[in-house]
Amino acid sequence: MSNAPDRIETLIGDITSLSVDAIVNAANTSLLGGGGVDGAIHRAAGPQLLEECRRLNGCEPGQAKITGGYDLSARHVIHTVGPIWQGGKNGEAEILTSCYESSLRLAAENACESIAFPAISTGVYGYPTDQAAEIATSTISRSLVDHLNIRSVILVAFSEENHRHLLAALGRAED
Ligand code: AR6
Repeated sequence: MSNAPDRIETLIGDITSLSVDAIVNAANTSLLGGGGVDGAIHRAAGPQLLEECRRLNGCEPGQAKITGGYDLSARHVIHTVGPIWQGGKNGEAEILTSCYESSLRLAAENACESIAFPAISTGVYGYPTDQAAEIATSTISRSLVDHLNIRSVILVAFSEENHRHLLAALGRAED
């Protein structure tokens, strides 16, 4: 089994196009859809995703819930709710850390060997992308030690800037 950091890769693109066991959705507490990556995932998955989400009774910030992927290439969607950035002194880092931990735990429990994450909270919720990238990479590296069945974690950036922050947080040189 390779080291945890060797199982993490990055790319720039649309998370809805990935053929992985699970993609993570940066949802809100209602789990009933929204803009950003949440809107893109619901559009690509089709209306059955919303039907299943309605039965989940929402989700607390830092927690995660799993559904099918329906029309997506991904088998599952793991919905997590990130913190709304309020300056950094309201537990935002702890909640964001918990999002990554909860999502990976749920992936492992559901025999997902590959999982892709968007940059949770860095859009509408306003989390600074450099700080969010640090939390994403450090939390995933730490958690993967406990989840040996997860072979591949893809961190999906939606902008060049976000991708630079991910590479910096991983200590990797730019291509
Ligand atoms: N693929 C990958 N990343 C994407 C995509 C995509 N198709 N679309 C956007 N991103 P956001 P949040 C990036 O706003 O900040 C929703 O309305 C985006 O550039 O989607 O956690 C929910 O319902 C950014 O870097 O999520 C909530 O109400 C990252 O995904 C709220 O927004 C997250 O941006 C959640 O806000």
